[in-house]
Parts: sequence; C-alpha cells; structure tokens
Amino acid sequence: MAFATRHFVRAASSAAATAAAKKLLIKHVTIIGGGLMGAGIAQVAAASGHTVVLVDQSDEILKKSTKGIEESLKRVIKKKFADNPEAGAEFIKKTLKNLTTSTDAASVVHSTDLVIEAIVENLEVKNKLFKTLDKFAPEHTIFASNTSSLQITTMANATTRQDRFGGLHFFNPVPMMKLVEVIKTPMTSQKTFESLVDFSKAVGKSPVSCKDTPGFIVNRLLVPYMMEAVRLFERGDASKEDIDVAMKLGAGYPMGPFELLDYVGLDTSKYIIDGWHSLEPNNPLFAPSPLLNKLVEEKKLGKKTGEGFYKYK
Ligand code: NAI
Repeated sequence: MAFATRHFVRAASSAAATAAAKKLLIKHVTIIGGGLMGAGIAQVAAASGHTVVLVDQSDEILKKSTKGIEESLKRVIKKKFADNPEAGAEFIKKTLKNLTTSTDAASVVHSTDLVIEAIVENLEVKNKLFKTLDKFAPEHTIFASNTSSLQITTMANATTRQDRFGGLHFFNPVPMMKLVEVIKTPMTSQKTFESLVDFSKAVGKSPVSCKDTPGFIVNRLLVPYMMEAVRLFERGDASKEDIDVAMKLGAGYPMGPFELLDYVGLDTSKYIIDGWHSLEPNNPLFAPSPLLNKLVEEKKLGKKTGEGFYKYK
C-alpha cells in the first residue's frame, strides 16, 4: 500500500511536471491599446517583472498613457512602501525600465510571448489587427483579447492560431481590481489556457475561467441587473435614488446600479446590451431600454460627460 501510494505520488508529480513543462512561461508581453485598460495592464505586467511594450496609434497618446502609469505607480508606492520611500522609488524605476512604447505593433511582436489587445470595442477593427499581427508574431505567441462583450471565437478565427488564442478580461481600474476572467474558446488549447492562468497569477490577479459566452461571468450578471434597475425606474416603481440606496444598504453593494451605470458609461452599457440583444433578440434580460437610449442620444453618458442618470460637477 505504501509502495502504491509512493508510486502514485511519483507518477502524479511527474505528470504535473510534464504538463508544467509544456506550458509557456510568459516573459515578454505586447499590449495593444494604451487607453484606460491597456495602460493598466501594462503597469501591472511591468511591475511584476515582465518586459512590456505598449502600443498605440500615436506618440502623443502613448505619452499620456506613460504619464498615467507614473501617476498610478506613485499612488501604489504610497500604500505599498509607506515605510520605505527608497524601496518605493526603486520599484517605480524598475517598473518603468520594463516598459517601452511603440506605434508600430507589427514591428514589435516578433519576440513576444503574449499579445494582449485592449483597443476600441469594435469587432471589425479587432479582427483586422489580429489578422495582421498573426503574420508577424512567432508561432509560439499567444493572442488574447480584453474585450468586455465581443466573441473571442470570432477574433480567433481571424487568425491561424485558434489554439493559441483566448480571452483575458481585466477589470477597471486594473491596478486595484484583483479579478481576471480567463476565457477559453472551443479551440483554445489546455496549454494556452494554463499559460494565461499562470500569467494572470504572475501579475498578482486571481483568475477565474469561463467559456466564450456573452458577458462571461461578471458582466453577464451585472449588465442585466443594471438594466433591470433601469426598467424598475422606467415603470415608476421606485426612484433611482431609492434603488441605489436599497442596493447599497440592503445588498451591501458599494455602489447602486445607477451610480454604477454612470461610472461605467451609458454609451458602453448601451453598446453591450444592444450587441447581446442582436445575438438573442428574444431574451428579456437583453432587452434595450428606451430611457437609456434617450440619455445616450442626448450625450448624457455618465460621469465622463458630467451627466448621466445623475449630474456631476
Ligand atoms: P480606451 O478608449 O480608453 O482605449 C483604447 C485605446 O486603443 C485608445 O488609446 C486608442 O487610441 C487605441 N487604439 C484603437 N485602435 C487601435 C489600433 N488599431 N492600434 C493601436 N491602438 C489602438 O478603451 P478602454 O476602456 O481601455 O477599453 C479597451 C478594451 O478593453 C475594450 O475592448 C473594452 O471593451 C475592454 N474593457 C474595458 C473596460 C472598461 O471599464 N473601460 C473593462 C474591461 C474591458
């Protein structure tokens, strides 16, 4: 029995070792899109020792991204190195040393292990980018999209590396939010999936996995919840203020659904729900809202425009 157990343990650990050996250790990362999400992902990847190239359309945008990263790092060290400012300064120096920028994705992906796309939420534009990069990236390189609402499978099909393609869905603000949803399409290989899980852990996040289904886990639950709050308000069943207070005090949520909609952006929320509605027109959870549509038409998009469901100074 003791022999059998020892034999089993040895066999299991050697199987684990073989599987681990097959996984890709991601060291060099290329992030396309230096906006809100891309800059955040670049920051956490560089801070955790990866070599990072951040790509966007102009040097001007990239300057803004780098400045944002520097400001964010200063906030991080205030907490992380409160008692040791010298170590904090060293942390920023090391992180920024790991980070370079470029306006030419095709010329920088030749030595990358992982490409993370965080550009505009438009399937055609994303497909075009992946199709181009597929020609320039080495065979081993894994491609991942940070999309919130589009199908990863469709993007993977724009390339010849469907098995080395998955989703890495980070949350905003990236340096603060601990979650990453790792998305596996029917074509994503186990090796790719495990490499993406390991990378998520390496950048200090807690990965969860989900199939390539609309909204993955978080948004699939959150967006219909927010839309149901709008419908409750539209019917005149309760005021938006009371709905927000109710969900904060009754459910313990840090923000009410209308505060959250204004934070996310009403245009983004409308875009997501319209996309899902076109995929599943009979699903009542995905029904569009006349009130949301009206506010977006009036350019009341939430906090970013100074007015959404609420007014901001
Ligand atoms: P953003 O608008 O802040 O940044 C997008 C950046 O991509 C811009 O700087 C733009 O110049 C650049 N870009 C556009 N096309 C490009 C191209 N072809 N090549 C290189 N750069 C290009 O957008 P954000 O909010 O960072 O979103 C990016 C992606 O992340 C979207 O797919 C979005 O759905 C997803 N996402 C957004 C979240 C959020 O809370 N904003 C949360 C999780 C995912």
